[in-house]
Amino acid sequence: MTYHFSNRVPKSDVDPVGDILKVAGDPKVMSFAGGLPAPELFPVEQVKRAADTVFEQKGQAALQYGSSKGIPELRQVILDRVKVEGIETDADHVMFATGSQQSIDLTGKMFLDEGSVVIVEDPTYLTAVDVFRSYGARFVGVAMDEEGMKMDALELALQDNPEARLIYTIPTFQNPTGRTMTLSRRKRLLELAEKYDVMVLEDNPYGAIRWEGENLPSLKSMDKTGHVIYMGTLSKILAPGLRLGWVVAEPELIKKYTMMKQSADLHTDSLAQYIAAEYFAQNDINEHIAKITSLYHKREQIMMNAIDKYFPAGVTHSNPEGGMFLWVMVPGVNDTQVLFDAALARNVAIVPGDPFFGNETIPGTFRMNYSNTHEDKIEDGVKRLAEAIEEVMDKK
Ligand SMILES: Cc1ncc(COP(=O)(O)O)c(C=O)c1O
Repeated sequence: MTYHFSNRVPKSDVDPVGDILKVAGDPKVMSFAGGLPAPELFPVEQVKRAADTVFEQKGQAALQYGSSKGIPELRQVILDRVKVEGIETDADHVMFATGSQQSIDLTGKMFLDEGSVVIVEDPTYLTAVDVFRSYGARFVGVAMDEEGMKMDALELALQDNPEARLIYTIPTFQNPTGRTMTLSRRKRLLELAEKYDVMVLEDNPYGAIRWEGENLPSLKSMDKTGHVIYMGTLSKILAPGLRLGWVVAEPELIKKYTMMKQSADLHTDSLAQYIAAEYFAQNDINEHIAKITSLYHKREQIMMNAIDKYFPAGVTHSNPEGGMFLWVMVPGVNDTQVLFDAALARNVAIVPGDPFFGNETIPGTFRMNYSNTHEDKIEDGVKRLAEAIEEVMDKK
């Protein structure tokens, strides 16, 4: 049988990240590779209680088809939630999606044609790269430093690509680097988006998980011209299994999103929306976020202390003030796979940096996750990883 796939289907079945996560799933392997929240903090009992209430009081509505924009009960909850990000808005500016992943997908579908330019942080969230690529995107990567995307490089990218359709950014506790864009760069990014009339897709799954530094205003909260599309999700502050995300944008865009959403899956799971709305009514989400923040901070500190103790001189890393990831740069390594293999030989997994780049990669970089490894195990894993790094650096 010959399959005549569309251009959107990847040509190759090779899935390097999937393969890494498979290896990392081996119980013998200590994985710093995944990007999973700590499951021991999922509020199972509270979500069960919310679900019981929904079945007792609204069972029929929860099992019925619903509106593509989402249920009104959750809309108010999310309007309150985005207010924390400084976004004062109303129901006409919001649509629910099946996780931020679907928001990214619908955005790609709405804005991209074959060859359309998407400007991304280098490195960026690799699954967004996959989505945009499936819609024919051509990537222009903008270098970052510890203050986020470099604005002079962004302006050059915009001058060279005035037809760019999107700037995709994760300004706070970025995946994969854990870096946060400074306030002055946020303001500059908005000026540039306006000057070059390019839409900005602000992806903010991690912003609420902050243990250090000052909260910074979201791009959307400072957007006076409607250039920013904001995406949020319950995945990292409640549970990813609920698959609940939201888009905040100008009403004319929300109308388009709603039409695209309708053709994708009619609407986001009604039952999940009702349960989430009920969970918010019965519980204080901020208390729950505080628990997540405190545990991830503890794990991050253990990881950072172990890195300082064991990693060879010359290796640098980001210093996240929140979120779930940090980014490591090993000098003089031409092939990051060698690092991965050396770590795996010691039963430790990381994600090599390559797939996070839109085009040109920076060898010797990798991502580490701390949210999903128990405090008791982190130091030993970092120690073994340090031995692997040393071995690879010695071979240079
Ligand atoms: C930057 C970023 N955007 C979007 C997503 C997808 O999140 P969701 O579970 O809401 O689909 C993730 C998941 O890890 C992410 O890291």
